[in-house]
Amino acid sequence: MALSDYIVTDDLTIILALAAAGLFVLHNLYKPQSLVHPILLGRQSDVARVRNPGESAVCRNYGTGMLGRFPMRPTKDQQVLLDLVRPDADAPRTLWSTKITNPQLRERAAAFGNGLIEVVGLVPKESNVLLLLNDSIEFIIADLALASNSIPSFTLNSLSLLSPVLDTHPPSAIITHAQFLPFLLELIYDSRESSHHKIIVVGEPDGKDVKDLPLFRFDEIEREGVSIDSDGDPADHVPDPGEVFTVAFSASPSGELQGAELTHENLTAGVAAARALLPLSSAISPLDTIASAFSLSTPYGRAIAYTAIYEGTSFATLDSAKVVVKNGRSATTDLEDLFSMNSLPVPSPTLYFVKPSHLDKLASAVIEEAKKSSSWIMYNLAWRHKFAGLLEGFLTKQSLWDRLVFDAARVKVMGKGAGTVRGIVVSGGNVDAQALTPARIALSVPLVNAYSHPLVAGPVLASHPLDLQTFPLHTQKAGQSAADAFAFTYTSPVGPPSVNIEAKLVGVDDPAVENGADPVGALYVRGPSVGKLLNTQDSPVQEENAEDKGWVNTGDRAKVAPNGTFKVVSVVAKGSST
Ligand SMILES: *[C@@H]1O[C@H](CO)[C@@H](O)[C@H](O)[C@H]1NC(C)=O
Ligand SMILES: *[C@@H]1O[C@H](CO)[C@@H](O)[C@H](O)[C@H]1NC(C)=O
Ligand SMILES: *[C@@H]1O[C@H](CO)[C@@H](O)[C@H](O)[C@H]1NC(C)=O
Repeated sequence: MALSDYIVTDDLTIILALAAAGLFVLHNLYKPQSLVHPILLGRQSDVARVRNPGESAVCRNYGTGMLGRFPMRPTKDQQVLLDLVRPDADAPRTLWSTKITNPQLRERAAAFGNGLIEVVGLVPKESNVLLLLNDSIEFIIADLALASNSIPSFTLNSLSLLSPVLDTHPPSAIITHAQFLPFLLELIYDSRESSHHKIIVVGEPDGKDVKDLPLFRFDEIEREGVSIDSDGDPADHVPDPGEVFTVAFSASPSGELQGAELTHENLTAGVAAARALLPLSSAISPLDTIASAFSLSTPYGRAIAYTAIYEGTSFATLDSAKVVVKNGRSATTDLEDLFSMNSLPVPSPTLYFVKPSHLDKLASAVIEEAKKSSSWIMYNLAWRHKFAGLLEGFLTKQSLWDRLVFDAARVKVMGKGAGTVRGIVVSGGNVDAQALTPARIALSVPLVNAYSHPLVAGPVLASHPLDLQTFPLHTQKAGQSAADAFAFTYTSPVGPPSVNIEAKLVGVDDPAVENGADPVGALYVRGPSVGKLLNTQDSPVQEENAEDKGWVNTGDRAKVAPNGTFKVVSVVAKGSST
């Protein structure tokens, strides 16, 4: 072998060594930094030091602290519902398809409120009104008008509750869409109830439906309300923040009618909790557009809508959130539903409040598109780099790999929404433990996994948006049933309690907990955003025990980790709207 051969090899070795050293330095220089300090994630709730036998310790959000006061409202100025329409902010934004400023919204609500009393003859503190409306600006106007005049509203999260509510809680008046009138009248005649509801319709009723009916038109009430002098001062009547302004009816897990009474205070607390989902550094601003899959007829959906109104963002709900659908829905896919608001004149959404199936379908569509449109090698490299970033707690939409592989796929699937979306809050069902990482890679925006409940305004539990940790699947531990072990293994954590909630588990296995197992039991919550269960004959959910005052059984099972992050599994699958 000639000498030169050795020399060539040596050169190559040196070059390779240099390259390797260079890569090592580069890797360390550009190693992604965790976006949130791990210590913060290690302690997400403040956990009480003692626990009652058979119960977990009580957990509160770390931001609230064990002795801290709950942030009951966004600021001290939001005492009642109308205060969430801040009089000092007057930039227009679009709600569904109406561009409107706060002063205009307040005027319309005031006029409609006058009309309800003077034209329709409703009586504050006596009348009550069923809001049988799809999510719309009319819903908000009516809601604000009723709440400001101390006339409680009823909402239904499903049309199947209409007959039971008319039977058990006949309202003084019903506000509904003109198109829905024939259906409603049929139902009222069928039920042969004696009470005569006043009916107010949005839109133009069909002549033949209204022949001899005392019908009121929404727009006429509003128009006449403008000219009525409500004794001059609209501040004449200011409702008490502790007053029940709405009863949100839903079907309990066992299918019975249940109602959540919410006070102004409960809802402002829900808005305060919803605002706290995003860290201060990326707080909601008037530049945002919020899209929600949760009906205004649910306390959670209502809290999201009023969060949007409080923050001055544009807002719309997805098609699937609409409740007043008489002949069943035309079948739409989750993706079509997600983009259903593209037909509205609202800007492209920046924040989505959606269900797990929406997230799932969106992420899979992006991943499929990315696989299809790039080579196998590029796709795999991109996936591995983004995954490595996640393991370091780092997430960006702007890496080389996004530009090379994922950006185009996102645009293909989401259109201009690909560029605008900056956060997604998922709730209303279990998020599969395996689903979060692909979703984070595909969408590369902060994801919050939240737990919501039909009795609570705003989120109950919610994960930190930048908590990217994933944990190996656990196996069954001592003291855990096989079913629990299975259910909790495949469920993503929903984080600590929101800022206005205390949570604990009841019926935990004491010996197992003493041996170091994580407590598992029935999830109980309380706090200012929790509504009160309306007293119906059989209300098994409310805890009557005096000692346990204020605690509400959610009806779901949960497990809490030592750092106060929860996993929840629904015992009975809930209806489509949470
Ligand atoms: C919470 O605690 C669990 C169990 O101790 C641990 O695996 C995990 O690191 C913690 N979770 C977070 C988000 O810090
Ligand atoms: C409510 O919204 C749904 C979904 O868009 C629609 O199908 C239905 O017709 C609406 N109901 C009324 C009465 O307008
Ligand atoms: C809901 O609001 C009422 C009155 O404002 C308040 O007394 C109650 O404590 C709130 N609910 C809970 C569960 O705290």
